[in-house]
Amino acid sequence: MRTDTGQVIHLADYRPTDFVLERVDLTFELDPTETKVEARLIFHRREGVDVAAPLVLDGDELTLAGLLVDQSEIDAARYTATPEALTIRDLPEATPFEVTITTIINPEANTQLMGLYRSNGIYCTQCEAEGFRRITYFPDRPDVLAPYTVNIIADKAANPLLLSNGNFLGGAGFGPDKHFAAWFDPHPKPSYLFALVAGDLGVVEDSFTTLSGREVALKIYVEHGKEARAAYAMDALKRSMKWDEEVFGREYDLDIFMVVAVSDFNMGAMENKGLNVFNDKYVLADPETATDADYANIEAIIAHEYFHNWTGNRITCRDWFQLCLKEGLTVYRDHEFSADQRSRAVKRIAEVRHLKAEQFTEDAGPLAHPVRPVKYREINNFYTTTVYEKGSEVTRMIATLLGRDGFKAGMDLYFERHDGEAATVEDFVKCFEDATGRDLTQFSLWYSQAGTPVVTASGAYDATNATFSLSLEQMIPATPGQSAKEPMLIPLRLGLLLEDGSEVTPASVSGIEMTGDVLHLTQRAQTAVFSGIPSRPVVSLNRGFSVPINLHFNQTPADLAHIARHESDQFARWQALIDIALPNLTQAARDAREGRDIACDPAFIEALLATAGDETLEPAFRAQALTLPSEAEIARELGSDNNPDAIHAGRTAILTAVATAGADLFQSLYDGMTTPGAFSPDAESAGKRALRNIALSFLSYAENDPARASAAFKAANNMTDLAQALTILAHRFPDAPETLDALAAFESRFRDNALVIDKWLTIQATIPGDGALTRVRALQQNPHYNPKNPNRVRALVGTFAFSNPTGFNRADGAGYAFLADEILDIDRRNPQLAARILTSLRSWRLLEPARADHAREALMRIERSNDLSTDVRDIVERILKG
Ligand code: TRP
Ligand code: ZN
Repeated sequence: MRTDTGQVIHLADYRPTDFVLERVDLTFELDPTETKVEARLIFHRREGVDVAAPLVLDGDELTLAGLLVDQSEIDAARYTATPEALTIRDLPEATPFEVTITTIINPEANTQLMGLYRSNGIYCTQCEAEGFRRITYFPDRPDVLAPYTVNIIADKAANPLLLSNGNFLGGAGFGPDKHFAAWFDPHPKPSYLFALVAGDLGVVEDSFTTLSGREVALKIYVEHGKEARAAYAMDALKRSMKWDEEVFGREYDLDIFMVVAVSDFNMGAMENKGLNVFNDKYVLADPETATDADYANIEAIIAHEYFHNWTGNRITCRDWFQLCLKEGLTVYRDHEFSADQRSRAVKRIAEVRHLKAEQFTEDAGPLAHPVRPVKYREINNFYTTTVYEKGSEVTRMIATLLGRDGFKAGMDLYFERHDGEAATVEDFVKCFEDATGRDLTQFSLWYSQAGTPVVTASGAYDATNATFSLSLEQMIPATPGQSAKEPMLIPLRLGLLLEDGSEVTPASVSGIEMTGDVLHLTQRAQTAVFSGIPSRPVVSLNRGFSVPINLHFNQTPADLAHIARHESDQFARWQALIDIALPNLTQAARDAREGRDIACDPAFIEALLATAGDETLEPAFRAQALTLPSEAEIARELGSDNNPDAIHAGRTAILTAVATAGADLFQSLYDGMTTPGAFSPDAESAGKRALRNIALSFLSYAENDPARASAAFKAANNMTDLAQALTILAHRFPDAPETLDALAAFESRFRDNALVIDKWLTIQATIPGDGALTRVRALQQNPHYNPKNPNRVRALVGTFAFSNPTGFNRADGAGYAFLADEILDIDRRNPQLAARILTSLRSWRLLEPARADHAREALMRIERSNDLSTDVRDIVERILKG
């Protein structure tokens, strides 16, 4: 039985360590079940620290096999070793001193995938956030930085490859069957960035010449036979390295950069210094097996991890409360990279869709927390969309407020001032203040106040004075632990459009400070008066989603359609279309619930089809416009008392109405948006595929017949088209013979490719309706399913819970009961994975009462278990309480 100490860590309790770590020497003798780890650590006592102070090192499930201080054994009375800590007393008065620790660990038995584990015969490590303490006793916190030397000894035949961080020092034979390799990482780093990989893998090699002319060897390691599928990742890596030099002036700093793909991984990827470890899902791609979305994800995640080399590794975090310092900033950097590589507007639309679906939902529920939290029980549970995506939005707002040059000056100062250090959010913000002279005190509330601000706007035009006044009010909702909030600095970009579609630049603005097209809202309620406005303007508010808020602004569909047609900001055009769509979708859900006929505003259909057919717009944008808000987004808009069946029925009726009205257009898009020639994953081709496939989806509503999707499935020559056709078949016609044939054909063609089988699992797990649970249960018995592999579990159980609103929220509560069983089962092996999937219940209070009761029951059953990990206990208690 596990005992959760229930210990809460507070930001306010931070203090530096008593001892400074000078260097680390690690020797691993790898063995599947008994790996010996010897750690030689050199410390000195920090100035002013009492000579009697003990050295306390962190551990997690460790047993001590040997301990030396300055190479000598010490009296048993001088130390205490438990699985969680090693405490050494009476340390030498004269420092530095050396501590040598031996531990024996079992990589094969490590199902948590934290620390050193074995995946498919490959030894690999995952140390962020607190995995290093599962390898050896150590001051396992991000503000303890040191250079590392790593020696790896292993069986030569099974492990021809021995990798760690930094530069390769050398290797040699070691007895008859073994060999060893030594690595040295000169850049001081915290333990969470340590990595070791050993095994037998194939490699793709390339090189990159940095801006100062140094040649860096690039290596991507994958399972033998999969080398060709790493080509795109390599290409993305080189583009990332170049982009970081050009845009942020950041050059790579070692002789070699390595990426290793592993098949068992808790998250997307990890930025270990010089040795990134990836979930193979985010490395491997070819046209036959990867969708356009997969390519885009690979590009983004390769970039993200590479960018961490500066934002995270060279400058790291003082403590885990500062996580957004590396994650929010690095997400911002990878967003900008993708925007530069692809279509900026389409990238922004996709980002905002994701932000609203995930982060706004988190921020509105029991798991809401500030971008920089002030307390946690389990740090693994704070790798959240708030820290990552809202953290990125906060960085983007700094760029909006300071402008390009101001932002660049602040970033340059940050790199210059804090290189080699463990920094805080305050340090970061201070760089922008010092570089530009701006006071960012009020702005910093974005880091400390949780909750998505609601901004309510209203406008009035005064024809006699040719002025337009815009009143704005901000309100930040209460969140767990934060009831009263201060008004924030809200950088709201806007445009004023005249009747002919042109934009008017006001002669002057009073009431609210404005720079360029950005209004700087600072008070709870403020009114801006724009002068020199010749006629009633249509206001386009929050252009480019300059600020992550919920905007309440009663605009007529006609005004929204005007924006959708004339805005120069593409994002705003898309947003206007969504704002026209949403009331139709929410009303349809209400009507479906009450058994009324469902009506759809013809003006909405007209505006949507006009955009879809507008050939001056890029296909990817048109596809985004046609992708109506998801059922989850409609639920969020409705706010409470949700009935997922009614939302689904209402949305289906609207889709059918659009499909019927636009049948000719969809037919011509389906016929016309082809991508002749060899497959290319570039953004333009992907956009055409997206538009063609959404047209196919609408045709399936108009025709209500699986024939066309079935033909598309048979004709597809790439995974994007194939998976889309299969999704349409399965979701629209689950019992049709064409669907059963297609599912079987897909399985037999890709049975040897687990990542593609994940798509097969996901497509079936997300088939709407009550039958989904039975299907998911049956798929768990399928030989393809492996409850120990996180990708399989996420593809089946995770997508069922997160992405199948009607199936998961079955009225009888069976979906929740299933989830509870699964969580308790997964938690025994992999707490991190269990806790994450459990967050699928975070919005349970917004369900209609009968479903909410069932959900509460399932949560309480989890809570009652006396064998929960800290991870799951933390989530379940917060979800129930909040
Ligand atoms: N730092 C990683 C990233 O964002 C993510 C990460 C944190 C992670 N903890 C992890 C990855 C645990 C795998 C396992 O890039
Ligand atoms: Zn990251």
